[in-house]
Amino acid sequence: MKRIGFFDTKPYDKIWFEKLKDKYGFEFKYFESKLNSDTAMMCSGLDGVVAFVNDVIDEKTIDILNGYGIKILALRCAGYNNVDFKSAFGKLHVVRVPAYSPHAVAEHAMALILTLNRKIHRAYIRTRDFNFSISGLTGFDLYGKTMGIIGTGKIGRVFADICKGFGMKILGYDPFPAKDSNIEYVDLEQLFRQSDIISLHAPLTKDTYHVINKDTIELMKDGVYIVNTSRGALVDSEALLNAIKTGKIGGACLDVYEEESDIFFEDYSNVVIKDDILARLISMPNVIVTSHQAFLTDEALKNIAETTLENLREFYENEGLTNEICYQCTRYGNCAKKEKERCF
Ligand code: NAI
Repeated sequence: MKRIGFFDTKPYDKIWFEKLKDKYGFEFKYFESKLNSDTAMMCSGLDGVVAFVNDVIDEKTIDILNGYGIKILALRCAGYNNVDFKSAFGKLHVVRVPAYSPHAVAEHAMALILTLNRKIHRAYIRTRDFNFSISGLTGFDLYGKTMGIIGTGKIGRVFADICKGFGMKILGYDPFPAKDSNIEYVDLEQLFRQSDIISLHAPLTKDTYHVINKDTIELMKDGVYIVNTSRGALVDSEALLNAIKTGKIGGACLDVYEEESDIFFEDYSNVVIKDDILARLISMPNVIVTSHQAFLTDEALKNIAETTLENLREFYENEGLTNEICYQCTRYGNCAKKEKERCF
């Protein structure tokens, strides 16, 4: 029986994996800690590892896993910016869940926008305190406003459809525009200049790192809303904070934060948070922070568990790895995966 170790596991993660365990015949070991070079020694005796968004799979971690004979790392998420693929190549197959519910993330992005714009977060607290004043709760109609979407992949396109339902005009930027979509594609500068709300749905890469920064904020409309449900480092948080202070940015919805890895998913309600930028952002009435929960629906959790276990089954049964992340072909063009259905 293959022994699989899960890192950064919370009770809600286990539900679907436990339900599907018998079908696959794996033995599971759950760790609350994140995977990194300090915790990798817990993998001794395991046959495979399941990791999540804030685990650090760097060269040192990979070498430790490799030393224990582990050859498969299954990410139970879509993003993979936390893996050093150069070090993993030839040692560790890295598989992921490319899509589990684009609807979950897109719907959360819209939930954040509606909450922020119509001040639901403030109204909820007021009425619980029997304060029925509506002063200061004025929002604006989404109808007729322009939504700028950076990254029009699976999530970005579902989000565009939701926005269309509100009667919004959609502008998109993506180096690989979607065919057959009725998104109007523009360059980034136009998107920044024309959008009333800008929503980020691109992966974290060297091109998207701090795509929202001091200079690009300057190009934006006064009072623009920034929505980030992709990866924290797409936004320069300090520049965002400064622009909210001056009023240049009218509001921000953040499901991700660039320094989230040691903070999000944990209960720090009894602790003084040392991250001054995050603390200041959270203190603002026009900023909503959720703790990387955009994916968190029953449907998404079920899909994550099914795809992750299927990825592991393919590996152990020597089949092609449908969801392996290819490193070599994008760099050197000689793609082993095309012939052997595995990257190496
Ligand atoms: P996807 O791969 O379907 O779409 C990403 C799109 O971004 C592609 O169309 C790609 O061409 C585009 N892109 C690449 N480089 C770009 C650039 N420099 N500028 C603009 N666009 C660029 O991915 P999907 O499923 O839509 O996910 C998007 C992102 O959402 C993921 O990379 C992940 O970081 C994030 N995510 C967040 C979750 C959460 O719980 N908050 C859950 C799942 C994903």
